[in-house]
Amino acid sequence: MADELYLGLISGTSVDSIDAVLVGFGGDMPRLLAHHAHPWPSSLRQRMLALAQSESALDMDAMGRLDVEIGHQFANAALQLLADSGTPAGAVRAIGSHGQTLRHRPTGEFPFTTQLGDPSVIAERCGIDVVADFRRADVAAGGQGAPLLPALHAMLLRRPGHSRVVLNLGGIANVTILGAAGEVRGFDTGPANGLLDAWCQRHRGEAFDRDGTFAASGQVDPALLEAMLGDSYFALPPPKSTGREHFHLEWLARQLPPTAPSPADVQATLLELTARSVAQAIAEQAPEAGEVFACGGGVHNGALMRRLARLLAPRLLHSTAALGIDPDFLEATAFAWLARQRLLGLPGNLPEVTGARGPRVLGAVYRAPAGSP
Ligand SMILES: Nc1ncnc2c1ncn2[C@@H]1O[C@H](COP(=O)(O)OP(=O)(O)OP(=O)(O)O)[C@@H](O)[C@H]1O
Ligand SMILES: [Mg+2]
Repeated sequence: MADELYLGLISGTSVDSIDAVLVGFGGDMPRLLAHHAHPWPSSLRQRMLALAQSESALDMDAMGRLDVEIGHQFANAALQLLADSGTPAGAVRAIGSHGQTLRHRPTGEFPFTTQLGDPSVIAERCGIDVVADFRRADVAAGGQGAPLLPALHAMLLRRPGHSRVVLNLGGIANVTILGAAGEVRGFDTGPANGLLDAWCQRHRGEAFDRDGTFAASGQVDPALLEAMLGDSYFALPPPKSTGREHFHLEWLARQLPPTAPSPADVQATLLELTARSVAQAIAEQAPEAGEVFACGGGVHNGALMRRLARLLAPRLLHSTAALGIDPDFLEATAFAWLARQRLLGLPGNLPEVTGARGPRVLGAVYRAPAGSP
């Protein structure tokens, strides 16, 4: 039987690109068939970053416009993938679109999470049904709305009788703990690339620290490291999730000692913060795990991976590539899978991960215009 095709779209907290994947489901196991990383126009990226991390007043006009602009970019990413892979729109059952998170505040009296990227625009331009708004049903049920990757990690990476950790090094780092008896847990450990990118952009004028060479040129500043690790997020028990609205450059500025370290030393200390907070979370929450499989853009940061490997020893650290799983497109694959779950009427969250009151069917369906192929 031919695979059933779904298309997954996401831009993560790093706002580095829109990742688009075409995923085939034969039986229940997703297979990555094609992928495309769609660059953001730089002015749009700057506006999103400003809105995502500043504490400035809300501008409804800016937000409404941004929602539609992001929707158009997501549609462009999907259409490019379809064209590159020679896939007719009519062959795709649905698009799962995560959108771009601009605020994630899953705790407090009125918890919320906001993703932009108008799904109606995507459905209209692609002529394919779109499933979107994946996080809010979980938040409404008392959950964090995140992370949503663990269910897919469990499906693809579980090994009965072995305890493993899947580590996603995105803008934020999150872990999925796969227990030997089949149990699954997961949470955000804290910052990963988001702060490294922001500091590198400010001091080097480059969007990211390629291979961690800027960080490797500096020395860890113990006072800054201690101040940052003192943030109360690290000591919170799971379930927990965080984002750019917490770990941003203004947060970093508040931790800097009176005699500020050099930019290279700050970059080295930010890398150490990521490595330490990840290693500490794994030591505390998954002491029995023997192997850690990393995915997300951070696997390409050699300095970070070397430091993590040392701190995680004797556990072994690999990229998911070692298991034949492309580390750059796992997250987008999850949203193709979540779209399918929605159309099948099946839950997408794991309440034991997000803290929701129960399993929930996630997302809403935006139909393609009548007469679409
Ligand atoms: N060669 C490289 N060297 C260093 N860092 C890299 C390299 N390639 C990618 N990265 C980092 O990976 C980041 C992108 O990772 P990814 O796409 O997984 O993050 P994300 O979109 O924020 O995802 P998430 O939603 O999981 O937070 C880039 O912003 C950059 O910091
Ligand atoms: Mg990304």
